Amino acid sequence: MKLIAANWKMNLTPSQTKEYFEKFLPLVEGIKDREILICPPFTSLCVANEILRDKWVKLGAQNFHYEAKGAYTGEISLIMLKEFDISYVIVGHSERRWIFGESDELINKKLTAALQYGIRPILCVGERIEEREAGLTFKVVETQIRIALSGLEAYTDSLDIAYEPVWAIGTGNPATPEDAQLVHAFIKELLFGINPNHRGETRVLYGGSVNPQNSSEFLKMKDVDGLLVGGASLDPESFAKIVKSF
Ligand code: PGA
Repeated sequence: MKLIAANWKMNLTPSQTKEYFEKFLPLVEGIKDREILICPPFTSLCVANEILRDKWVKLGAQNFHYEAKGAYTGEISLIMLKEFDISYVIVGHSERRWIFGESDELINKKLTAALQYGIRPILCVGERIEEREAGLTFKVVETQIRIALSGLEAYTDSLDIAYEPVWAIGTGNPATPEDAQLVHAFIKELLFGINPNHRGETRVLYGGSVNPQNSSEFLKMKDVDGLLVGGASLDPESFAKIVKSF
């Protein structure tokens, strides 16, 4: 089943979250043939969890610390998140990598923790513009995936991957669906190389300037198994259009 995920980033307060769902849920009522996921900020998880209880729309978190508890001021652990109905956690988003300095090694620790706690991770990978221009896209994506999955090779089916070229995020300049398809096919092939017992259950989502006008073109591609949507997910009507665009 395709996964259409919203990453709200640092947007929408708890009261705005409530208003969002009042508009959004009727627009996607009865849609059961695709997974819909909302990843709000931590402060909105409580209200979102109440609203989405028994609903078909799933809840995810944007970040977490890999330790269970302790002296980590300002951090949130998976034990804390597990008190909400969290189905997914985003790991290795490029804003975490490039603004907050998360390394591939840290991302590996987070991925390990998410798998231990049984919350399905969405691992984000993608090249920066200078890497793309140097022809390094496939190499960068491969390195990010190999290090993230180091020691976790047997678990390749237990996560989803989002291909999000850094230069496409929030710029209004998406990858072409054909370019995304090439990288998605490469990622799927790579997983079979990493794990000889891989069953091919990992979905590869595209993210980066997805909007209601271009979403269906991405979803037509053979290896695009869903979308991770930032800016265009903040408006309930626009995100509902994306959800319904195939
Ligand atoms: P965008 O962000 O849709 O605003 O480009 C996507 C993402 O960062 O996940």
